[in-house]
Amino acid sequence: MIKKITQIEDEVRLFVPSCKEEVDLFKIKYLGKTGVLNKLFDDFKAVPVSEKKDVGIALNKLKSLVKSKLSFSAEKKLTDKRKNEKDLTKTIKNNSLGSRHPLAIVEQEIIEIFSSIGFAVSEGPEIEDDWHNFTALNTPKEHPARDMQDTFFIQSNPDFLLRSHTSSVQVRHMEENPPPIRILSPGRVYRNEAISARAHCLFHQIEGLYIDKHVSFADLKQTLLFFAKKMFGEKTKIRLRPSFFPFTEPSAEVDVYWGLKNEADYRITKGTGWLEILGCGMVDPNVLENCKIDPKNFTGFAFGMGVERIAMLKYKIDDIRLFYENDIRFLNQFSSSL
Ligand code: DAH
Repeated sequence: MIKKITQIEDEVRLFVPSCKEEVDLFKIKYLGKTGVLNKLFDDFKAVPVSEKKDVGIALNKLKSLVKSKLSFSAEKKLTDKRKNEKDLTKTIKNNSLGSRHPLAIVEQEIIEIFSSIGFAVSEGPEIEDDWHNFTALNTPKEHPARDMQDTFFIQSNPDFLLRSHTSSVQVRHMEENPPPIRILSPGRVYRNEAISARAHCLFHQIEGLYIDKHVSFADLKQTLLFFAKKMFGEKTKIRLRPSFFPFTEPSAEVDVYWGLKNEADYRITKGTGWLEILGCGMVDPNVLENCKIDPKNFTGFAFGMGVERIAMLKYKIDDIRLFYENDIRFLNQFSSSL
């Protein structure tokens, strides 16, 4: 027993803690209920009377050695390693939120305005076929209006292309659903344009389509006025200018009155005070027929707008490229406290 005690003594002497948890473990190991010392004191009961004195002295010496080690360790300012470890259950303070992209914010706002008057979202593919992007929209092959949109064709099969507008979704929806139809189709579109402050080869559009019995041009005008007021404020004025699109007859372009208060207004509106925001018109009977809807029973209107254009007006952004560069200094300006 004496031999065992001296062995343990050597072990205790060598103990040099480097942190608080090592001290705690040491204390439990030697002084704990089922620790080394209590075990030795238990064994002590069975020691023959003749040896009791020597073993007793050795045991008490060991106990005071352990205690002095502990009080010595307590004096040293040991760091608590556990405090430096990551506590994964802790609640996070100052969790900085990212921001939604300005295009996503504006797209959502437009969808909300139109859904409040019964328009539902209907989406289509970005890789389209010739029929849905052009032919069904009254723009057959060799039609000069195809040049209005400089299109990316798939080289191995020019019957397929990157859609040049979201009007293709009109066709897809009408082919699959009977009237009444009231849809909004947001999405990405592609055109072979030189990239500049005002144009990009990739941008976003929102297409609207309303088909029912007795839909009139007056309905179109009132719907767009409602939209413009919600988007740009109650006092907003709009005007419709005659225009041409192969898939609508008559066709129009819609301007909002921007004002001519300062020099920038003159520059942005080219001195007119008006800014174009979208194209629209009454759906051409040929388009309805192509989609198996009888133009004698049904009429409708359609419109298409560029999301970038609306966002640029709303936030007074003067370079379209900012939307795609992911510059954190630009994006941070749209962060919300939500
Ligand atoms: N698709 C046209 C464009 O990209 C926009 C447009 C004009 C859509 C008139 C329409 C419309 O639905 O009726 O330039």
